[in-house]
Amino acid sequence: MVILYLAIVSAGASLLSAAVWAQEAAALAVTRARHLSHGINTSLWFAQSPADYTVERLRSFTTTDDIVLIKKLGFDHIRISIDAEPLLGWRRNLPQGVQFMAELDRVVQAALEQKLAVIIDLHPESRYKQQLLQGTEPVERFGMLWQSVAKHFSSMDPNLVFFEIMNEPEQPDPYRWQGIESFVSGQIRAVAPQHTIIAGGAKWSGLEDLMLLQPIPYDNVIYTFHDYEPFAFTHQGATWTDPAVQPLRGVPYPSTPENVATNLQEEPTLAGQFFMEQYGLARWDAQRVDATIDFAERWSKLHDAPVYCGEFGVYRPFADEAMRALWLRDMRIALEKRHIGWAMWDYQDNFGVVTKKNGTTTPDRVILDALGLNRAK
Ligand code: BGC
Repeated sequence: MVILYLAIVSAGASLLSAAVWAQEAAALAVTRARHLSHGINTSLWFAQSPADYTVERLRSFTTTDDIVLIKKLGFDHIRISIDAEPLLGWRRNLPQGVQFMAELDRVVQAALEQKLAVIIDLHPESRYKQQLLQGTEPVERFGMLWQSVAKHFSSMDPNLVFFEIMNEPEQPDPYRWQGIESFVSGQIRAVAPQHTIIAGGAKWSGLEDLMLLQPIPYDNVIYTFHDYEPFAFTHQGATWTDPAVQPLRGVPYPSTPENVATNLQEEPTLAGQFFMEQYGLARWDAQRVDATIDFAERWSKLHDAPVYCGEFGVYRPFADEAMRALWLRDMRIALEKRHIGWAMWDYQDNFGVVTKKNGTTTPDRVILDALGLNRAK
């Protein structure tokens, strides 16, 4: 009887301590997420430039001066997009891969010296992501790659270095992606148990993908989403994505049926007219942005897990500057109101917050102001 009583008490105690531990682990992710309040995506540097990962370019495209500037402008973290191919080369000890990792180490170190947090964002090309659709073997290889990367960075401050499993995985099946993400998290945890993992939804990691995601069976995880809605506005003229946005020019934000009337008239195709009319009818404005971001908070509360917006931004070439700033402001306010950290896409490319020309880097004061940062250079 006494033994039974003791067994019940000790089972109760261990259940309690497990519950306390789980709570602490969730709290840890929340504390860590505070280092990711307002960030910037250092794009096209260690990813998306497959033709050129030479040391020369890696040292000149974005520099240590840029890292210092990023800090001065008021950002608290950088999300470094990192291609998978050169990492595979590094794993196989190929000279180019080894050099790539050495340069990445140098950049991570420079950021940490500035007290900037760093997201190691695995940002492969589509063809790498497609392989993951083909059975278990490529998934196991992906896990092995992550294990090497996590081990490599495991001695770095876990308060400031984060591991993001994969940018926009393009996996059509959320359930399968969930399994992949869980498996890879296990591989990471085995070698870097202190570090916070960033996990996202399937497909393009949009808010709708986050809604379908169940938390993975690990603690100390932050859940990410990307938000470029309304796409007709943020991606007007973009050539690499939904063909519907490619011909768009001068799309207004906020949108009303009245203020899209001219755009509508200029649309030669029925498909284009449909797209534009729907955009006007949707009446995108601060209120709608806010109502959308509210779902991120709802997901976070439902699952008792912190969320983070890893990408949002507006393609510069065809958007009105003031409208671009307005949307960024509306997004930033909606996120900050809910204590959701964010990283704008991107630092210096065609969504950028700075312009680099003839050796001079000019921060965009209007955009910095929209981001609530506008600090003196
Ligand atoms: C993609 C970039 C793209 C950006 C905005 C990113 O996740 O990797 O290629 O420019 O989203 O569309």
